[in-house]
Amino acid sequence: MCGIVGYMGSERSYEILIQGLKRLEYRGYDSAGVALVRADGSLEVHKARGKVSNLEQVAKGGDTSGCLGIAHTRWATHGEPTDTNAHPHLSQSGKIALVHNGTIENYSVLKQLLTDNGYQFKSETDTEVLVQFIEYMRETHGCDLFEAIREALLRVEGAYAIAVVEQGNPNTMYVARKSSPLVIGVGDGETFVASDATPIVGFTDKVIYLKDNEIGIINRNSPIEIREIDSNEPSSFDVHKLKMSLEQLEKGGYDTFMLKEIFEQPATLRDCVRGRIADDGSRVVLSGIDMNRERFLNAERITLVACGTSWHAALIGKRLIQDFCRMPVEVEYASEFRYGNPVLNEKDIVISISQSGETADTLAAIELAREKGAFVYGICNVVGASIPRNTDSGTYIHVGPEIGVASTKAFTGQVTVLTLVALAIGQLRGVINADRVREVARALKEMPETISETLKIAPEVEALSRIFTYAHNFLYLGRGYNYPTALEGALKLKEISYIHAEGYPAAEMKHGPIALIDREMPSVIIAPSDSLYDKIISNVQQVKSREGAVVAIVSKGNTAMNDIADYCIEIPEVPECLTPIVASIPLQLLAYYIAVNKGKDVDRPRNLAKSVTVE
Ligand code: AGP
Ligand code: GLU
Repeated sequence: MCGIVGYMGSERSYEILIQGLKRLEYRGYDSAGVALVRADGSLEVHKARGKVSNLEQVAKGGDTSGCLGIAHTRWATHGEPTDTNAHPHLSQSGKIALVHNGTIENYSVLKQLLTDNGYQFKSETDTEVLVQFIEYMRETHGCDLFEAIREALLRVEGAYAIAVVEQGNPNTMYVARKSSPLVIGVGDGETFVASDATPIVGFTDKVIYLKDNEIGIINRNSPIEIREIDSNEPSSFDVHKLKMSLEQLEKGGYDTFMLKEIFEQPATLRDCVRGRIADDGSRVVLSGIDMNRERFLNAERITLVACGTSWHAALIGKRLIQDFCRMPVEVEYASEFRYGNPVLNEKDIVISISQSGETADTLAAIELAREKGAFVYGICNVVGASIPRNTDSGTYIHVGPEIGVASTKAFTGQVTVLTLVALAIGQLRGVINADRVREVARALKEMPETISETLKIAPEVEALSRIFTYAHNFLYLGRGYNYPTALEGALKLKEISYIHAEGYPAAEMKHGPIALIDREMPSVIIAPSDSLYDKIISNVQQVKSREGAVVAIVSKGNTAMNDIADYCIEIPEVPECLTPIVASIPLQLLAYYIAVNKGKDVDRPRNLAKSVTVE
């Protein structure tokens, strides 16, 4: 998920690696490290928590020579951001150094095997398991490092981009990838390696994109060699010419981080679900719940606390938990909860939801809940942030760093994890039936494809956005699961385009906001073919009869709505409880394109901050 840089040539590698890491810092970082192999074969490793500048401080006193090196900025998934958990990780003998982006799903099984064979671990990471496992393969198979890496990767489940060097060998670097990008930069007598091309720009414009399941050998004295991990057959590759500027590269070719993050959602939702649903789709496995079975079995009520977009996810979470667990659920703004003298005891579970994990109100709310004896479960994106450190247990959403201030991929990740949490609690309490678990689990697993399909409507939404760019007010309406989706759609528009927008439960409109509707006030109505579809049709009619323009978000194939609404945007059909995830996509895009049409800075909207650490 985060950044890798590698260099082999005739220059000192350290400065090149540090510069590369700094270029990757935009992706988020929590720690950084470098491993250097000097001409005499000695290996030197420096690591530090925090920014790359901390690493520079730490490395200052050491020897930073050597023309071969690998480096990493970490976005923690396994273990908190600490010096020890930072990459590179070393094997037991200290001879093999490895950096890794991604997650090794079967790391606990491998760790057990290694522990049984006398291996000891310094860090909590899945990455250290991988490097130890490579050494174990080398010892048990009696093979060279290349073969050992290949043998290890054949047995590893998960996603990875890796770079490996070895003490005693200043002439070779190995790289491999599966579901996580890796680029090789081909220079004149030097080779670069990186998780995306940003660190390479300016050094060379010739790059090779490693493909999934490929392993590369970069040797000082011979041409680059790429092989298939599975068959060990040589793999053909093309050398591409890099055309993008540094800024474009950081944004993955998109104009803004927000657009990149919207389009990343098929991948982020895959990461979010990975390893959490049994292969046969019959069970959800969340260790944070399994390890606290008694608390979840004895709980009498769940209260969800959060702010902003995360609060909208909480409202969806309420429906999910009510439906799957049939127990009382409340949702509170963290800022209200903390001063609301809440009645809580040890039979209460409080679930806090936060992308950043640093939101001051949410932190205060969980501290209060814990004081009162409640069990606090955190749903967070940033590993090792204050909220996960102050909760009793929890689940990370694993959607990677979100840079755009307006939350997009974190929201869909939060709703996905809340779905998993609700399924897991429902299962544990024996409330939800097995068929329902399978149905929802299957749809969650298919979500990456579903979202890819949904994203195809982007050009249509862009065209639509031009019609509404100069509207001064918007109404967003939805019912049931999609009332919170309406709130989130309205918030997105407000945040980045500065257009006033209100989200409302569609049926509540007639109790007040209907007075606002006229030709100048468009309504976005979320109306998938779900259990409330017939009800929402009458709400659409109510808007239309007051001459309000209606943009309807409908399920694919719903042609009937064309006769009523002014514009229809079709989304793929999914189980009702998952419609908020899919319906959010056109709403994110609509807000985005309207803001762009108005010339606004979507990544840094005025007056907002990515993490709100003040009351
Ligand atoms: C979302 O687009 C926002 N910028 C904001 O509402 C955000 O969701 C809120 O501040 C909560 O942040 P958190 O999830 O990091 O706690
Ligand atoms: N899973 C690894 C870790 O937690 C790598 C995370 C990353 O991609 O930075 O250390």
